[in-house]
This record gives sequence, structure tokens and C-alpha cells, in this order.
Amino acid sequence: MRKIFLFIASLSAFILLVSAGFNDQSKKINTKEALGKKLFSEKILSLDSTVSCASCHIPSYAFADTVAFSIGINGIPTKRNTPSVLNMKNRPYFFWDGRASSLEEQSLMPIKNPDEMGLPIEEAIKRLNKNPIYRQLFKKIFNQPVTEKNLAAAFAAFEKTLETVDSKFDDWSNNIKNLNASEERGRLLFIGSKAKCFDCHFMEDFTNDDFKNIGLFNGEDLNDSGRILISREKTDLGKFKTPGLRNVAVTAPYMHNGMFATLEDVVEYYNEPSRFVSNAENTDKALLKPLGLTAREKKDLVAFLKTLTDKKFYRKKM
Ligand code: HEC
Ligand code: HEC
Repeated sequence: MRKIFLFIASLSAFILLVSAGFNDQSKKINTKEALGKKLFSEKILSLDSTVSCASCHIPSYAFADTVAFSIGINGIPTKRNTPSVLNMKNRPYFFWDGRASSLEEQSLMPIKNPDEMGLPIEEAIKRLNKNPIYRQLFKKIFNQPVTEKNLAAAFAAFEKTLETVDSKFDDWSNNIKNLNASEERGRLLFIGSKAKCFDCHFMEDFTNDDFKNIGLFNGEDLNDSGRILISREKTDLGKFKTPGLRNVAVTAPYMHNGMFATLEDVVEYYNEPSRFVSNAENTDKALLKPLGLTAREKKDLVAFLKTLTDKKFYRKKM
């Protein structure tokens, strides 16, 4: 009898402690941003509660994935490579084909996408409203039950905090530190007329926020036709959103189809696209002729790209 009493007493103490812990954690969540951060790792937003946004947008890999195609709830690979969700605040379009035009609009799409989280939005809202912690948090922060609108607002608010401006390149541009000789040669190449990277990768996040065809469509082995699927404009065949290049050293593999494993491969590709892809259609005219980069120039360009990594993603081996 006494044993049972002791057992029950310690069990209830344990339950009390656990729930106090929960309450403590949710007490710290007082803003849309903090709520969005919690939701970003929330697996109940997927049909079988196995996948969250962070399963594919892995925080320690600059919020990208490490494989060409990510795996969603049904074990089916995604159709395109998972991009980083850092530095999204100033982007006018989202997804490789630009099919969403705000983070709010974007954020509910992966929840219902059958290749990703596969949960109807109404069901997601129901699940959150049934969950005492979320019910309390949405009440505290929005003074409302969970709705599509405030759920999207929380995701977007969190994503807008994911700006990275503390790289070696930023130190250089703030006159705090010089680049080393190779990085500096790479920088000059990057902005110069020989490599032409700056034609498309410019502004503070190294993107023109436009759609370009760099030669990765031939209607054969490369048959994702990109932007044209959304715009229905012939000139958009094979165009994809120019990705920003901040933290690019951390987000391999590269391109909408993850076809290049390293930055060295990417630079080899730009140097002579026709060595990698035959019969490319509608390639941008900036890339029709081989660039003629020397071995040293290729190395320098890669060295420059590596200066765009925010210090929080530095790893021993980089
Ligand atoms: C199964 C993997 C997977 C999951 C889960 C996932 N994503 Fe994605 N995400 C992707 C892929 C793949 C793309 C690119 C798809 C495309 O462009 O067609 C993408 C694109 C994005 C983009 C656009 C980035 C850009 O450069 O335009 C944002 C923002 C984003 N996801 C946020 C989220 C949020 C928020 C969640 C959770 C609600 C989420 N993702 C869940 C794989 C995933
Ligand atoms: C004509 C515009 C254009 C030019 C010039 C250009 N890029 Fe790109 N870049 C793009 C587009 C568009 C993509 C995405 C293409 C795709 O996935 O099909 C891309 C992708 C990349 C990626 C992969 C990023 C990722 O997250 O997957 C890297 C790295 C890159 N470019 C570096 C460079 C460098 C270095 C140069 C100069 C040698 C350069 N780019 C020149 C438009 C351009």
C-alpha cells in the first residue's frame, strides 16, 4: 500500500515537473517570431507527425538540406533541391519558379504539399487549436484561436529574423578586415566582365531577384522547365530564380536539381556549360561562350564564395 502511494506521489510530482517545464518554455514565447520558430520545428504539422520545416531546412546547414532531394512524409523525394530560407526578408518571390510572392503565402504551401508535409491546412489548424500549449500561445500573442492567417504570420515573422550579415565579406565591406589575396582576386573576378557572376548575383544578398536560364534545361535528362510553368511565357523556358549566395559554402548540393556537389563543380560548370549539358535550350546569352578561367581563377572564385559564410556556420573543416 505504502509503495503504491509512494509510486503515485512520485509519478504526480514528475508530471507536475514536466508540465511546469512546458509552461516555463511557453512563457518565454511572447512574440510572433518566437512562436514561428517553435512552429518551424513542429512535426504535428505533417500528416503522420514525422516531418517539420526544419527536417528539410536544417538550421545548422544554413536552413538548407544536405541532399539533392529531401524526403517528405511518404518517403518520396521532393521534385527540387531544398533552398536555404536565410535572407528571405527582401525577396519578392519564393520557390525556384517564384510561385509564391510573400512569405505568408509561401509558408502554408509545404504543409499541404503531399511530397512534403501532406496535411490539409484545415486539419493543421484543428490540431493546433486542440493542443493546449498552442491554444494558449496563439491566444497570448494574437488574442485569437489559431487561424490560417495568424499561422502564416508567425512563420513569416520568424523567417524575417533569419538575416545573416556577419561574414568575412561583411567585415571587408565594413572596412574591418581585408580579404586574403586569393579571396580578393576572386572578388574582382566575381564582379568583373570575365566571369560575369555579378550580372545576376548582385545587391546585398547576391541575387538580382529575377529568373534566369543558366543552361540547365534540355528537355531530355534535364526537363524541369522552371518559371514557364507559372508565367506561361515562352521566354521563361528553363528559367529559375537566381538564388542569393550568402552561406552558399554550407548549402551543397547546388542548383534547382542539386546536380553539383561542390562549389568547385559549380565554377567548372559556369566556365564551360556545354561540357556538362548538351542541347541546352534558351540559355542566357551571358553564358553562351566558355569563360576561359584559369585553374587559379577558378580557385579564387571559390575562395571568394566562401567569404560569404556567416560566422555562426563556421565549421572546423571549412
Ligand atoms: C520535405 C522537405 C521540405 C519541408 C518539410 C519544407 N520544405 Fe520548404 N522547401 C523545400 C523545397 C524542395 C523547396 C523548393 C521547392 C520549389 O522551389 O519548387 C522549398 C522552398 C521553401 C522556401 C522558398 C525559398 C526560396 O529560396 O524561394 C521557403 C521560404 C520554405 N521552403 C519554407 C518552408 C517552411 C516554412 C516549411 C514548413 C511549414 C517548409 N519550408 C517545409 C523542402 C521542404
Ligand atoms: C545569367 C545569370 C547568372 C550568371 C551570369 C551567374 N549565375 Fe549563378 N545562378 C543563376 C541562377 C538562375 C541559378 C539557379 C539555376 C538553377 O538552379 O537552374 C544560379 C545558381 C548559382 C549557384 C548555386 C546556388 C544554390 O544555392 O544552389 C552558385 C554557387 C552560383 N550560381 C554562382 C555563380 C558564379 C560563381 C557565377 C559566375 C561564374 C555565376 N553564378 C553566374 C544565375 C546566374
